[in-house]
Amino acid sequence: MEKEQLISEINRLRREKNAVIMAHYYQIPDIQDIADFIGDSLALARQAAQTDASVIVLCGVHFMGETAKIICPDKKVLVPDMNAGCSLADSCKAEDLTLWKKEHPDYKVISYVNTSAAVKALTDIVVTSGNALKIVNKLPENEKLLFGPDRNLGNYINSITGRQMELWNGACHVHSRFSVEALISLKNKYSDAKVLAHPECKQVLLQLADVVGSTQALLGYVKNHPEQNTFIIATESGILHKMQQACPEKQFIPVPPEASELTENGTPLPCACNECEYMRLNTLEKLYRCLKDETNEIMVDEDTARLALLPIQRMLQMS
Ligand code: 13P
Ligand code: SF4
Repeated sequence: MEKEQLISEINRLRREKNAVIMAHYYQIPDIQDIADFIGDSLALARQAAQTDASVIVLCGVHFMGETAKIICPDKKVLVPDMNAGCSLADSCKAEDLTLWKKEHPDYKVISYVNTSAAVKALTDIVVTSGNALKIVNKLPENEKLLFGPDRNLGNYINSITGRQMELWNGACHVHSRFSVEALISLKNKYSDAKVLAHPECKQVLLQLADVVGSTQALLGYVKNHPEQNTFIIATESGILHKMQQACPEKQFIPVPPEASELTENGTPLPCACNECEYMRLNTLEKLYRCLKDETNEIMVDEDTARLALLPIQRMLQMS
């Protein structure tokens, strides 16, 4: 089907089915442009809690669909592609967390939202990149904390709050690969630019950033600084679409990833892009199909969902 026809069919179906299309900032531009709502992980969770739609199509990755389903168990939650996973969420399975908790019996568990429902069910408080600092700061200073699965976000929180949370050794393969050398060269070349980075980036890169925040916070910074013309962006490049739409006259320069593979003669081949291949699995065609056939429905078993809801509710109350 041609793009125009796909768009008109999606528009017809969402009206007929009382469906809402929610998208993360890392989605391809076509999906961002058709979404009823676009946001970071925190905004998507908040929006799911508020919607009166009967069907939620969550254009993001699997854990985002699960979070929406846990918050709205009576709604149908669909995702365009069931294979849209997350390397960070995969780095800590429920069995791993169970063992870690056993080794630290008097610790509270703080889990980043990039986790499976089963991991959330073993968690005391869920956080996102948009509220992690605020929530950790609200906890009593003598509370012992396990933080997982993102060691970069955990390190960042420890460095700002002075806490000494124990950290799970996980990372996002996209954010941990941004090249520090390339960022230093970009900073030298564009000396007036501000560097905006997501807290999933490595600590050494975050130390070179002017602003560290969630995707929504970084977009907000761009919109609120009309005097600033150039920005160097260290997060998944999907966010550049909204930044460029909001501020068409400004320049946004993505930080490239480290050279990864070697060519046949041994010279490094730069990785093609700083895109999350899981986020990019979703397409307009897949969005149309899942809405039409109501396929790819997210299911979370009742016990897991009941347990996972509590730390999500704590997060929503505390942020
Ligand atoms: P946000 O919390 O900024 O939405 O980030 C989610 C994510 O997956 C980042 O890689
Ligand atoms: Fe997961 Fe990284 Fe992709 Fe975000 S960018 S969804 S953390 S793999």
